[in-house]
Amino acid sequence: MKRYEALAADVEESIRTGVLRPGDRLASVRHTSTSRGVSASTVFQAYYLLEARGLIRARERSGYYVAGDIRKVPPEPDLTSQPKDESIALDVSERVFEILESSMTRDVVPFGSAFPSPLLFPLARLGQAMAASAQSLDPWSTVDDLTPGNAALRRQIALRYLADGMHVHTDEIVITNGALEALTLCLAAVARPGDSVVVESPTFYASLQALERIGVQAIEVPTHPREGIDLTALEHAIARHKPKACWLMTTFQNPLGGLMPEPKKKALVELLALHQIPLIEDDVYAELYFGDKRPAPAKAFDTQGLVLHCSSFSKCLAPGYRIGWAAPGRFTRAVARQKLTTTLSASAPAQLALATYLERGGFDKHLRKLRRTLAEQQATFAQAVGHYFPAGTRATRPAGGYFLWVELPEGTDALAIHRQALALGISVAPGPIFSATRAFTNCLRLNYGHAWDARAEQAIATLGRLAQAHGPSHADVSL
Ligand SMILES: Cc1ncc(COP(=O)(O)O)c(C=O)c1O
Repeated sequence: MKRYEALAADVEESIRTGVLRPGDRLASVRHTSTSRGVSASTVFQAYYLLEARGLIRARERSGYYVAGDIRKVPPEPDLTSQPKDESIALDVSERVFEILESSMTRDVVPFGSAFPSPLLFPLARLGQAMAASAQSLDPWSTVDDLTPGNAALRRQIALRYLADGMHVHTDEIVITNGALEALTLCLAAVARPGDSVVVESPTFYASLQALERIGVQAIEVPTHPREGIDLTALEHAIARHKPKACWLMTTFQNPLGGLMPEPKKKALVELLALHQIPLIEDDVYAELYFGDKRPAPAKAFDTQGLVLHCSSFSKCLAPGYRIGWAAPGRFTRAVARQKLTTTLSASAPAQLALATYLERGGFDKHLRKLRRTLAEQQATFAQAVGHYFPAGTRATRPAGGYFLWVELPEGTDALAIHRQALALGISVAPGPIFSATRAFTNCLRLNYGHAWDARAEQAIATLGRLAQAHGPSHADVSL
């Protein structure tokens, strides 16, 4: 735990146990810095975190106060999942489409969506960059920007790796149509039909669909909601099933939101290196951290070129531009060839627009605001779940991203909740779509990346009633 997190945890404990009460003024930053022997910026970070969790509020020129309307947040789930130890031929795609297609309309409350609100992005500045790029586009860019992609954009991406202390060469970066394409190209570069690939349990449904599409089997490995895939279980799965690759998220995993601690990421990379197994690392949420710095990906610990790192601008900057990339280590040539033989290249104007936006500066300022908004929305959302959902509900509190994984009391029927909620204009992502065996029948993934308002609060209240109605006792609750 970092210093500011430890300080925030102590203050939170004082609030929860009633030592600090609603309306009480917190000790000043200077006083706390002296009494705890930490820097003023550590105290500020702790106070920002508590503010984002809805526990304290700043009053202008007066300091920080304990919030007056603290609602309880649900406890976090703490048990590692227990999928069967088997390699599974997948048959999930149709069902995932059926469930998700019905939610893909802007008229429903988008708790089931995989996207944050499109209004959270710097659309005007992106538009200016797009206009400038369209006007100045070199006619030869249709040739120059073919895979591996626009050189200026690849340089900007390499610079962002460098800012995090990682040396990823521009030549290693292959620009793609979003992260999903990067991931599927990497998969095609390392696995063939009939092979098996390790995934988390639960896992992002699109990874199961991608495996199914090319006839690759899934090995679901036990995963802890906060700390990620279980390495002992992974070692066992490697020995038993001889997977061709792992497809994992070590940072803000979708759907759990877990963040694997850095030493564990290192141990994961070492374990896979020992068996020469490539790791396809999906890192699309890494920029959306609520702490003080971007968590290092597993790629940061790779010394053998075995990690194929994939990300995009879809979740943090420019959703509709469909620009992502892979940094596939020793598989770079194979991935570039996959790209050339499938979709040839990403759109030249969109690549140049993002390069232009990044060169002009302002991305980090936008990200700081976005992270703060998401952290605040998470706090409000978690408190609403605590308030409206049945007793026994648990929910993750990810340190980044925009998903809460909600575990309802055992026996609750998440698919029934999904169906009935949709009829009432509310989408949710039910647990079974995140599993090859349709497990997690009592779980929901909820998206808090959209503005919190009266409609959202009403929708959470409705979901709470539905959860009660479809709970283990199937109480007769009028909606
Ligand atoms: C975990 C995860 N990976 C990849 C993607 C796809 O990213 P992109 O939109 O950049 O293709 C998503 C989008 O929902 C996602 O949630």
